[in-house]
Amino acid sequence: MQLSPLQSRLAASLGASLMIFALYLLLFSPSFASATELPVENVVRSDQPLALSDGLDISYEPDFAAFDRSIIGRAPPVGVQPMTNNGAERTNLDPGITVCYMIEKSTIFGRDLPTEERDDESPELSRRAESKTVYISANTCLQPGVIKNGEETEAPQLNLYISTTNDIQCPGPSKDTSRMKVIEFTEGAVMHSLNATGNIYIGVSAPNITQNYTSVYNYEIAASLDEYYHKYDSQNGSQLLWMDSDSSSVLLVTRNITQNGTDTDEIMKAELPYDIFMQNNNSRSLDGLRHSVCGLKNKAQLSAVQDEPGKGTDRITTVMTTRGPGGLPKQQFYVVGLDSSSHYSGILVKRANGTSSDTKRAESSIGGGGTVFRATDFQTSSGTNCKVVTDLGFCDEIQYAVPGNDNKYNNTELANVYDNYAKKMYANFEKVLMQISCEAPPQSLYSLARTCDDCRAAYKRWLCTVSIPRCEDFMSNGNFSIARNVAQAFPNGTKLPSDQRKKLAETPAFRASRNKFIDETIKPGPYKELLPCDDLCYEVVQSCPAAIGFTCPQPGFRSFNVSYGQRFEQSASVTCNYPGEARTKISVAAAMVPGAVFLSALPLMMWLGL
Ligand SMILES: *[C@@H]1O[C@H](CO)[C@@H](O)[C@H](O)[C@H]1NC(C)=O
Ligand SMILES: *[C@@H]1O[C@H](CO)[C@@H](O)[C@H](O)[C@H]1NC(C)=O
Ligand SMILES: *[C@@H]1O[C@H](CO)[C@@H](O)[C@H](O)[C@H]1NC(C)=O
Ligand SMILES: *[C@@H]1O[C@H](CO)[C@@H](O)[C@H](O)[C@H]1NC(C)=O
Ligand SMILES: *[C@@H]1O[C@H](CO)[C@@H](O)[C@H](O)[C@H]1NC(C)=O
Ligand SMILES: *[C@@H]1O[C@H](CO)[C@@H](O)[C@H](O)[C@H]1NC(C)=O
Ligand SMILES: *[C@@H]1O[C@H](CO)[C@@H](O)[C@H](O)[C@H]1NC(C)=O
Ligand SMILES: *[C@@H]1O[C@H](CO)[C@@H](O)[C@H](O)[C@H]1NC(C)=O
Ligand SMILES: *[C@@H]1O[C@H](CO)[C@@H](O)[C@H](O)[C@H]1NC(C)=O
Ligand SMILES: *[C@@H]1O[C@H](CO)[C@@H](O)[C@H](O)[C@H]1NC(C)=O
Ligand SMILES: *[C@@H]1O[C@H](CO)[C@@H](O)[C@H](O)[C@H]1NC(C)=O
Ligand SMILES: *[C@@H]1O[C@H](CO)[C@@H](O)[C@H](O)[C@H]1NC(C)=O
Repeated sequence: MQLSPLQSRLAASLGASLMIFALYLLLFSPSFASATELPVENVVRSDQPLALSDGLDISYEPDFAAFDRSIIGRAPPVGVQPMTNNGAERTNLDPGITVCYMIEKSTIFGRDLPTEERDDESPELSRRAESKTVYISANTCLQPGVIKNGEETEAPQLNLYISTTNDIQCPGPSKDTSRMKVIEFTEGAVMHSLNATGNIYIGVSAPNITQNYTSVYNYEIAASLDEYYHKYDSQNGSQLLWMDSDSSSVLLVTRNITQNGTDTDEIMKAELPYDIFMQNNNSRSLDGLRHSVCGLKNKAQLSAVQDEPGKGTDRITTVMTTRGPGGLPKQQFYVVGLDSSSHYSGILVKRANGTSSDTKRAESSIGGGGTVFRATDFQTSSGTNCKVVTDLGFCDEIQYAVPGNDNKYNNTELANVYDNYAKKMYANFEKVLMQISCEAPPQSLYSLARTCDDCRAAYKRWLCTVSIPRCEDFMSNGNFSIARNVAQAFPNGTKLPSDQRKKLAETPAFRASRNKFIDETIKPGPYKELLPCDDLCYEVVQSCPAAIGFTCPQPGFRSFNVSYGQRFEQSASVTCNYPGEARTKISVAAAMVPGAVFLSALPLMMWLGL
């Protein structure tokens, strides 16, 4: 178990911080029970070193030598633990024990600032507001397991007690809980804000555990006048999107980090904003800690934390990228070495602004604990002939699983083979385009004026999507994909059972891939194709001169439902393939795609003969 060294942090944060919280730490362990009812002053006057539990010594007397007493404004008594505004304290806690803190009224309203500070006192502090919002947050870093009948189960969560009455100076389970606020941690995190008018008393209490347990609790607590130091963002619509996965790897990307293209360069140059944690659904090590940054750091199976070694970090490649629709910056995570046929959670954590290499600053910065986002679930497949590809040179928006063959290509080579094929086909199209007058005068175009460049872009997007099909495991039961190449053997040599093969082969579309190239060159064996969205095709018709003779099959016609899929907002999963389309459904409210209305209008325009 690691406890961050207090000395260095205190010294560093005090140097940088103008505002000091005197958070008085009181201790209530059975061995110290007589102190429970003592007023604060009595406790802090005690010369006894205070011991928390398991010999963790919290007598900080030697540290005070480093303080200039004038900064604090008065001599700190022994046993008092001063904390900086937005600075976190980490502590061990045994089951059944309560640790108490106090935030003095004077520190909230800034009356006790030393004279030097008063001279350049901020207007914020001098206003002497009647009430001021105080943000209290905590994360559980270690959560014990309880041994019941030889099986380890999750222990109950810690509880936060808050009292604003001077009658209850150490709120906890032994007091009149109707006169205080009691909040149970959720998945190792708690956030509570209140409008303070006086002293605030805080207790963190570990529940009693009557069975044997595996470790103590360990948590981090912070108070702030600015915003929560530790945050959990539960908003609908994950911040992290599951692009696609195969049997052993996954590609995840964040949402656009900005919607304003002018910020792109700056964001691309800046440090990566997110850390990631991953957990196989069958592992229990993260139970009770899923909303806690330090809990994730301690217990997640896989992690990629900037500048910190972590478990499985070498299996995660993360970069900033502008790939995908819109060309806006996002952070991409490519993870290899996953178990097949498994459910995983990916948990994104946004670091505080403070640069991660400067951990001391980060720990005392506003929101320095970071923000944990709602987890994104994803699965790995059982079959091995669908392979995630990314970073294609020409088809740069393609980032999903494609039909592959382990015996012939690794994922990098596979991406190149497809990309080169698409590039060759596109060159033919360019030749056609050169032979017709592409740039028509504006008056000959309908209201949505399109240029040759629009035509090229639409054609390229369509071409890349149809020549690089999105692959699903043959054994998957997706409702929006169809069987392909059923007669060929899988790369491992097995064929489908002959009755199944014969039955499927009755449908011509199931017998072969869209392009002979795939069956003849790549030889992936049977797979399923998630069909491209029909609007990809309509957009070519819309954007390109009629003279190129490009047409699309219409819904209802025989070939339509083996060539194209349609968007279906109500569906819980993706219904058709579009470059940059994540498997995580982007909730309609959260997407805010300016082009969405326009795109969905296209099929209608087709019907109207536009
Ligand atoms: C604190 O006061 C502000 C403004 O007076 C109010 O908007 C806010 O809801 C209050 N917060 C709490 C937790 O009561
Ligand atoms: C734990 O048990 C002790 C003794 O029964 C009791 O005094 C204490 O309040 C309990 N603590 C909690 C957190 O329930
Ligand atoms: C705790 O573990 C010890 C040794 O394994 C065992 O003897 C004891 O019965 C256990 N206690 C409980 C409450 O399970
Ligand atoms: C989140 O989604 C649920 C279910 O779809 C819905 O009931 C809830 O109102 C949503 N919350 C927000 C904040 O959008
Ligand atoms: C994008 O950001 C720039 C400067 O950062 C600003 O001038 C511009 O108005 C912003 N554009 C939009 C659409 O918000
Ligand atoms: C594991 O995955 C299953 C199936 O998706 C899901 O129902 C369950 O809630 C997941 N469990 C955890 C701990 O995430
Ligand atoms: C990113 O922005 C582009 C352009 O606005 C948009 O097309 C795309 O859907 C956005 N991506 C996500 C994941 O919201
Ligand atoms: C973090 O960055 C945002 C945007 O750059 C800025 O508005 C905010 O003040 C910064 N917070 C801290 C604590 O530096
Ligand atoms: C060959 O691969 C297919 C598809 O991945 C799988 O269903 C089948 O069990 C494999 N056969 C053998 C003998 O491993
Ligand atoms: C894929 O194969 C190529 C050539 O055989 C090799 O240079 C490359 O390192 C391989 N890539 C991976 C990810 O194994
Ligand atoms: C496919 O559709 C059926 C019936 O509409 C539904 O019960 C099933 O859950 C769907 N499967 C998937 C994977 O969406
Ligand atoms: C395509 O549609 C026809 C009728 O419109 C239907 O008979 C056929 O089963 C469909 N094929 C697939 C693969 O959905």
